[in-house]
Amino acid sequence: MRYHTRKIVKPEDLNPNNTLFGGRVLEWIDEEAALYSVIQLENKRVVTKFMSEINFVSSAVQGDIVEIGMDVVKFGKSSLILKCEVRNKLTRKTIIKVENITMVNLGPDGKPAPHGKTEIEFVKDRLNQQSS
Ligand SMILES: CC(C)(COP(=O)(O)OP(=O)(O)OC[C@H]1O[C@@H](n2cnc3c(N)ncnc32)[C@H](O)[C@@H]1OP(=O)(O)O)[C@@H](O)C(=O)NCCC(=O)NCCS
Repeated sequence: MRYHTRKIVKPEDLNPNNTLFGGRVLEWIDEEAALYSVIQLENKRVVTKFMSEINFVSSAVQGDIVEIGMDVVKFGKSSLILKCEVRNKLTRKTIIKVENITMVNLGPDGKPAPHGKTEIEFVKDRLNQQSS
C-alpha cells in the first residue's frame, strides 16, 4: 500500500458529532482512486464503476492528519481494481478500508477501452525510459 496523500481534518470536514464526516472521506477516496488510475493508465478518461462494502472502523477529529493509501488488486482489460486504506497518520489507526474500487478506462467515445497495462509503473521509470 502506498500512501501518497495526506489531509488535515478541518472544521468543514466534520459531522454534527464533531468527528470526520464520512462523505468527505469517500470524496477523498474517490479522488485518490481517480488520480491513481489516471497516472497508472495514462488516460484522463477513467471513471469509478464500483466500490465494495465500506466500514468506518474509527474516526478522526479536527486537526488530525489522515493519509490515504492505494494499491492495485488487479489489472483487468478495461478495468483497474484498487484497494484503499485511510488511516490516522500519527497513530496509524485505520479509519476505513475499501477492498475493491473498480475504475474503468474509457475511450474517446466514452465506452470501456482496453488500457493495455499489466503492472504498476512508476513515473520516474517512464521518464528514464524516455531519456535513454
Ligand atoms: C463505466 C461504464 C462505462 C461501464 O460500462 P459497462 O457497460 O458496464 O462496461 P462493461 O460491461 O464493458 O465492463 C467494463 C469493465 O467494467 C467491469 N465491470 C462492469 N460492471 C462491474 C461491476 N458491477 N463491478 C465491478 N466491475 C464491473 C467489467 O468487468 C469490465 O472490466 P474488464 O474490461 O477489465 O473485464 C458505465 O457503467 C458507466 O458509464 N457508468 C457510470 C460511471 C460514472 O459516471 N462514475 C461516477 C463518476 S466518475
